[in-house]
Amino acid sequence: MNVLIIGSGGREHTLAWKIAQSDKLTHLYIAPGNAGTQQLGTNVDINIGDFEAIGEFMLEREISMVVVGPEAPLVDGLHDYFLDNSELHNISVIGPVKAGAMLEGSKKFANEFMARYKIPTGQFRSFNTEEIEEGLLYIETLKPPYVLKADGLAAGKGVLILDSLEKAQTELKEMLNGKFGEASRTVIIEEFLQGIEASVFVLTDGKSYVIFPEAKDYKRIGEGDTGLNTGGMGAVSPVPFANKDFMNKVEERIIRPTISGLQKEQILYKGFLYFGLMNVNGDPYVIEYNVRMGDPEAQVVIPRVQTDLLELLIAVANNKLGKKSMETDARSVCTVVLASGGYPGNYEKGKGINKLDEVKDSIIFHAGTKKEDNKIVSSGGRVLAVSSYGKDMKEALEKSYFSAGLIKFDKMYYRKDIGFDL
Ligand code: AMP
Ligand code: GLY
Repeated sequence: MNVLIIGSGGREHTLAWKIAQSDKLTHLYIAPGNAGTQQLGTNVDINIGDFEAIGEFMLEREISMVVVGPEAPLVDGLHDYFLDNSELHNISVIGPVKAGAMLEGSKKFANEFMARYKIPTGQFRSFNTEEIEEGLLYIETLKPPYVLKADGLAAGKGVLILDSLEKAQTELKEMLNGKFGEASRTVIIEEFLQGIEASVFVLTDGKSYVIFPEAKDYKRIGEGDTGLNTGGMGAVSPVPFANKDFMNKVEERIIRPTISGLQKEQILYKGFLYFGLMNVNGDPYVIEYNVRMGDPEAQVVIPRVQTDLLELLIAVANNKLGKKSMETDARSVCTVVLASGGYPGNYEKGKGINKLDEVKDSIIFHAGTKKEDNKIVSSGGRVLAVSSYGKDMKEALEKSYFSAGLIKFDKMYYRKDIGFDL
C-alpha cells in the first residue's frame, strides 16, 4: 500500500524510517518532509493545513493511509474532513477526529474529561476573560508554586509555573488578556504536582490498544533543566523508575479509563495517544494528553519497537488491534538533539551540515533540515536527533555523544547532560 506521513520533524523522519522497513509498504510520501525523509520516500510540498490539497494528492497517487505527525491538523479536523467526504472516507487516517484531538487542543476539556472518569490529575479550576476577579481570588487560596495553563494550543509555551503570588496574579491577567492569543482566553489553574516526569504512549483503534515503550524527554534548553522550554532536547527509553508496578498503575488508572471514556463519549479515536505523567511517590498523575507521538520521544520509542509498525497501523484502521501484540527491544535507546544556536529564541538557518556520513554507531533523524544544491542545510531550530542503542542508558548516551561530536554545523548546540537525573 501507499502511505502519506504528514509533518516535517524528527518524529516524522522516525515514523518514515520505521514504516519504510515494512513489506506492506509500496511507496511512501511525506508532506512536507525534510532532507532525512527524502532518503526514504518522496517529499511533497503541500501545506499541511490544506486538507483539500492533501485529499486530492492522495486520490491522484492512490494512497490509502495518512499518518498525521503533529497535533494541529488533527485539532483542525483533518480526520473529520476525510470522513465527511465521499471520495475520501475510505482512506485510513491515523490520528483522532477533532473531538478526540481536544484532549490536547483544550486543557479544560482534558481536565474535565479526566474528572468524569476519575483519572488522577492535579486539582484544577478554569477561568475565562470574564472571570479574572474570581481567578485572582482563587490563586490566593493556593500554595506556591502556581501552575497556569493556557487552554488552547500554544506551541509548548502555554504552561507557566510561578513561585510568587504577585507574579502568578499578573500572569493570569496577561494570559486572559491574550498573552497567547485565543489560546489563553481561558486559563486553567492547576495544583502543582511534585515528582519526576515520564511519558507513556499507546496506539489505539478506539477499543483495543497496544502500549509502546515509555520515555523521558528533556524540555529545557539548558543543562540541569534550566532556561527556556523547547520542543525537547533529548530523550531516553526505557525510564528506570517506570517499573512493572508503576506501569500497571498507569494502565489500570489512566490508560483503560481514558480509552473507555472516549468510547462512552462516542469519540472515534484511532491513532497515538501520549500520556505526559508525573510520578508522585510511585503514583502516576496525568499532566497532559497529546494526541500524537512525542518529538523527540519518537526517536527513542520507535527504534525499540520490533513489531512491524505499518501492520499495527493497518490493524488500527481495520479495528483489529486487539489481535496484535507489541515486541520490544530490551536495549536502551537515547537521543540527543542538535539545535541551531539561539533556539528556542532567534537563530540562523541555512547552515551547511557536515560529516553526517562519518556517523556509524547512531541513527541520525533529521528535523529542521533541507537539501539545497545537493547539500544538506539547517532549516529549523531543532536540526537533528542522534539516536543510539546501548545495553544500558549509559552506553547509549556515550554513543550518541560520540556521534554528535563528529557532526559539524555553524553555531550547533546540544545539551551534554541528557539522562543526568536518572
Ligand atoms: P505541558 O506543556 O503541558 O507539557 O507542560 C509543560 C511542563 O510543565 C511539563 O512538562 C511539566 O514539567 C510542567 N507541568 C505541567 N503541569 C504541571 C503540574 N500540574 N505540576 C507540576 N508541573 C507541571
Ligand atoms: N517532547 C514533547 C512533546 O512532543 O510534546
